[in-house]
Amino acid sequence: MTETPHPSASPTAQPSSDTLGLGRTSGQRGAEIIAGFRAEKYPTPETLALSRWAGRIVARMFMRMPHSDKAMNYLVARLYGLTELARRALPAQREETVIVELACGLSPRGLYLAREFPDVQVIEIDLPDVVRDKQKRLEQARNLTLPPNIRWLAADLGVTSLDDILENQQVDVVIAEGLTPYFTNAEVIRMANHIRNSLKPGGSFVCDLPWDEGPGGEGQQVAGLFSRQAGLYKCKLKNEAEARQLLADAGYESIELYRPAQMAETLKLAQPVIEYSFFAWGRKAPQQAAAPADVTPPA
Ligand SMILES: C[S@@+](CC[C@H](N)C(=O)[O-])C[C@H]1O[C@@H](n2cnc3c(N)ncnc32)[C@H](O)[C@@H]1O
Repeated sequence: MTETPHPSASPTAQPSSDTLGLGRTSGQRGAEIIAGFRAEKYPTPETLALSRWAGRIVARMFMRMPHSDKAMNYLVARLYGLTELARRALPAQREETVIVELACGLSPRGLYLAREFPDVQVIEIDLPDVVRDKQKRLEQARNLTLPPNIRWLAADLGVTSLDDILENQQVDVVIAEGLTPYFTNAEVIRMANHIRNSLKPGGSFVCDLPWDEGPGGEGQQVAGLFSRQAGLYKCKLKNEAEARQLLADAGYESIELYRPAQMAETLKLAQPVIEYSFFAWGRKAPQQAAAPADVTPPA
């Protein structure tokens, strides 16, 4: 059964025309197309279980377009690049460590991280329709065993703050892949600031930030067609300085940005890659050390 969206639901959570049979909201359609790409390019038990035929067929259509190889390589670099940043962001002491993935869609990352770090709790969040489909597909997959340390929550992140979704629980790492483009720069700042509230001191936010004027503008054609199915892209950053400023405005203390091609090279992934976003890692300030007590020097 599908739920009726909240009256002030985000545009990506509102039912809209579904000419290709991918899902009733643009959020759902975006998740389905990307899952289709992954299953076509890397057919594994996880990517196959998480995708459907409609998504794979649309993905094949995209794969015939000019520059599509570079766009596909970008998606691979984004998946593994952000995973790598999340891995680096994990604290050395893993007891009670929690990773949250926002807008998880039909990505297999949560499963991979939960298996790689059995002592870490993984929480995935997305719109209700997407979470319901994901759980159903995983339950029905005969050749997959779900790790016990992963769970799912359904919410519209444009309406409900992460604090409320997590009932004020503070977590170590929050990942968001492919979410920021759907919000304006001001909305992304607000969302990243809310995310910061849900981080433990020293916790990390890892995401992609759209690079509007990436070299050559070659992503525009594929992105144009994709966003017609998957929802309007709003966040636009001209350069690294603007991306850095956005996270600084959201209250992050230490900010690192990586370019997709640089990340693909580091991780030995397929190249060339469309430089379509910055892979960003913002850290919340660590716990302030207690102010030293006044010490009276010995006489
Ligand atoms: C482009 S897809 C990316 C999915 C996944 N991260 C991946 O890389 O495969 C964007 C995701 O954002 C989710 N999304 C869009 N708007 C959202 C919102 N307001 N609240 C929660 N999730 C949202 C969609 O449902 C979709 O799963």
